[in-house]
Amino acid sequence: MKEFEFYNPVKVLFGKGQVTKLNELIPAGSRVILIYGGGSIFKNGVYDSIKSSLKGFDLTEFGGIEPNPTYETSMKAVEIIRQKKINYILAAGGGSVIDATKFIAAAVPFNDGDPWKILSEEAEVKEAVPFGCILTLPATGTEMNKNSVISRKSTEEKLAFSVTPVFPKFSILLPDAAGTLPQKQVANGIVDAFVHVTEQYLTYPVNAPIQDRFAEAIMITLIEEGPKVYAKPDDYEAMSNLMWSATMALNGLISCGVPGDWSVHSIGHELTAFHGIDHARTLAIVLPGLWKTLKEEKKAKLVQYAERVWGVKTGSDDEKADAAIEKTEKFFRSLGVGTRLSDYGVKKDTIDRIVKRFEDRKWLSMGDRGLTTPDTTRKALECQL
Ligand code: NZQ
Ligand code: ZN
Repeated sequence: MKEFEFYNPVKVLFGKGQVTKLNELIPAGSRVILIYGGGSIFKNGVYDSIKSSLKGFDLTEFGGIEPNPTYETSMKAVEIIRQKKINYILAAGGGSVIDATKFIAAAVPFNDGDPWKILSEEAEVKEAVPFGCILTLPATGTEMNKNSVISRKSTEEKLAFSVTPVFPKFSILLPDAAGTLPQKQVANGIVDAFVHVTEQYLTYPVNAPIQDRFAEAIMITLIEEGPKVYAKPDDYEAMSNLMWSATMALNGLISCGVPGDWSVHSIGHELTAFHGIDHARTLAIVLPGLWKTLKEEKKAKLVQYAERVWGVKTGSDDEKADAAIEKTEKFFRSLGVGTRLSDYGVKKDTIDRIVKRFEDRKWLSMGDRGLTTPDTTRKALECQL
């Protein structure tokens, strides 16, 4: 196992009825802004619960955060917060609303020019407006981490940042509110959480059996519980298991002391930036392609994954690795998630654009042992045409 630091200060409240505690979680006398998306919180009862718990608070509302949240919309909220001297933010919705809130929270006190620099130049974030989250969609893990991914419409870019001041103060996880999710979003959540685990697991062995088994437990749970939620999003018990799996997949625990490889996400973000494909669907395309391309380099972990997660016990190592890749792709497809570029009408010219972008940015050796070069990226995407 490698050396590591683990820090996660997020207070988590899980399950039905926890929204009633909002008025104890947000300091009395705070001037609060509620940030939300396109209106799902009005349909699943979350908005009403917030209003009744926050009676007596000075509450401003800002809706309209889009999926794949933008810099442009976020900056409108920044203006309002500065003008009204708001000092607490409450995010209610999915990962996009929470990610936008993280960027907004960091942008408000940022005084070193355009806050876009936080994403484009890794400008230092010294402080952020404190905020809490109400999560209604299991997928990203953002409710318990310090990451945020923001898109800029004008330049067709999608970039991430990760800084300690944007850990949420608390997150309320609501599997009951997630019961109104359309099947498509449930499928996205299962795939996104699954790939978060593989990005921290499928590298090379470093004798870290605790992390490996945590990771395998999350993947097995997603394989068992995911299809139940996909078939019936309002199955509260199955949704609870999916939601907690997704949170555990990206709260820092399973990455302790092990190498990571976030190149599936890096490549996937470009597919969203150029074509607007849902985040999880981009991962479902890239992951099998990258594994096919790097099968030899990742073989030890692919075999372990085949044996322990998919129960593949027979055949050569090569056959086990192939079986694991095939079963993963089948699992995604069983959830209605296409794994080929052609499923989304994307052609070869996009591969050229992505490779050129990585070359221009000097992203020449990403991820696990620097294996994701522009050439690897090209091959991985060509496998999935
Ligand atoms: O906008 P509203 O009306 O709320 O509707 C949303 C949205 O249309 C809807 N929704 C949310 N909860 C619902 C609901 N509909 C019915 N019932 C409910 N209970 O679902 C749609 C998608 O929401 P979104 O927040 O975009 O989905 P998700 O949570 O998958 O977030 C995706 C974003 O997170 C980023 C992605 O890149 C993408 O921009 N990620 C963030 C990460 C992080 N911060 O750690 C890691 C991930 O890898 C990912 O990159
Ligand atoms: Zn993701």
